[in-house]
Amino acid sequence: MILAIESSCDESALALFDPARGIVRELVSTQAAEHEKYGGVVPELASRMHLSALPWLLEEFKGDLPAVTRLAVTRGPGLLPCLSMGVTLARALALATGRPLVGVNHLRAHVHSVFLPLHAQEPSGFLVARAALLPHLGIVISGGNTLLVRLGEDLSIRVVARTVDDAAGEAFDKGAKLLGLPYPGGALIERHAAQGDVAKFVFPRGIPEKADLRLSFSGLKTALRYQLEKMDDAQVRAALPDLCAGYQHAIIEQLVAKVGAALDRGTYRSVGLSGGVANNRTLRTRLTNAAAQRGLPMFLAEPKHCGDNAAMIAFAAWSEPDRPSDVAPAPSLTVDQA
Ligand code: KG4
Repeated sequence: MILAIESSCDESALALFDPARGIVRELVSTQAAEHEKYGGVVPELASRMHLSALPWLLEEFKGDLPAVTRLAVTRGPGLLPCLSMGVTLARALALATGRPLVGVNHLRAHVHSVFLPLHAQEPSGFLVARAALLPHLGIVISGGNTLLVRLGEDLSIRVVARTVDDAAGEAFDKGAKLLGLPYPGGALIERHAAQGDVAKFVFPRGIPEKADLRLSFSGLKTALRYQLEKMDDAQVRAALPDLCAGYQHAIIEQLVAKVGAALDRGTYRSVGLSGGVANNRTLRTRLTNAAAQRGLPMFLAEPKHCGDNAAMIAFAAWSEPDRPSDVAPAPSLTVDQA
């Protein structure tokens, strides 16, 4: 059984994974309410909160420790003071229990997280079932990253497309801030958008050329700012659902277009969607349809595993057993690195 620790940003999390049963136990302590006061994650505050949360989360796993055969920890990417808290706890646990410890790339873990439900369905047949789904197009969309990657038959990961500026989650959050909504605003934009008309406000959709897979979201945010400058507060309040609907639509249309272009260009046997923005129901439906139109199965990370969590860290440690076990915190690790 693998016990994993995640502390790369503002969630402290522990999870226990049994290859024969799946996720046995998992806990996440989120700091979102604390950081909301500052409009974003404050690294020093986040690391102090990990320092107090991780030990009491570990208390809940104390009874499992004798059955743990391997330890895993997120080594990056993430905020250095936050990563250090998880790595320090993991190293102490490895020392105390004598169990081996592996460092896990947080982004690779998001890519693999979409297969957790498949593993849960039939743990013993998982490796054979997954082999039939590779190569796989992984779509990771979070507050800090927007990436399309190719997960090859040998589990190698290659970047197919990425954003040249803001991440899609950042576009949601910055748009929400301009609209006067609290941080993180993605889920609130989705909620307001559900009551709005996508055609009332039309926002730019990044780089239009189909042959160019690069994503771009910074122009969208600027376009929203210019639109809001033309309106007074009462008009913005009245048009909030339409503004959110148009803004969300522009983000989703761009993602659907680039994912479609990537699928038409490469050879894939399945598609996966993960990361915090993968919580968005319209995005889940639209990308599932884009995959279905091409006859490909879609694997969606479960909502509880879209944001940061330790279940995906334990699962990735098991999914990629041959990767190097370096645990030194690596704040700017990229998805194609070990
Ligand atoms: O994976 P995550 O925790 O990001 C990083 O730590 O990088 O995801 C957080 C991001 C935020 O940008 C948040 O606004 C966005 O995911 N998000 C959503 C939704 N729920 C969370 N964006 C759009 N629609 C949602 N329902």
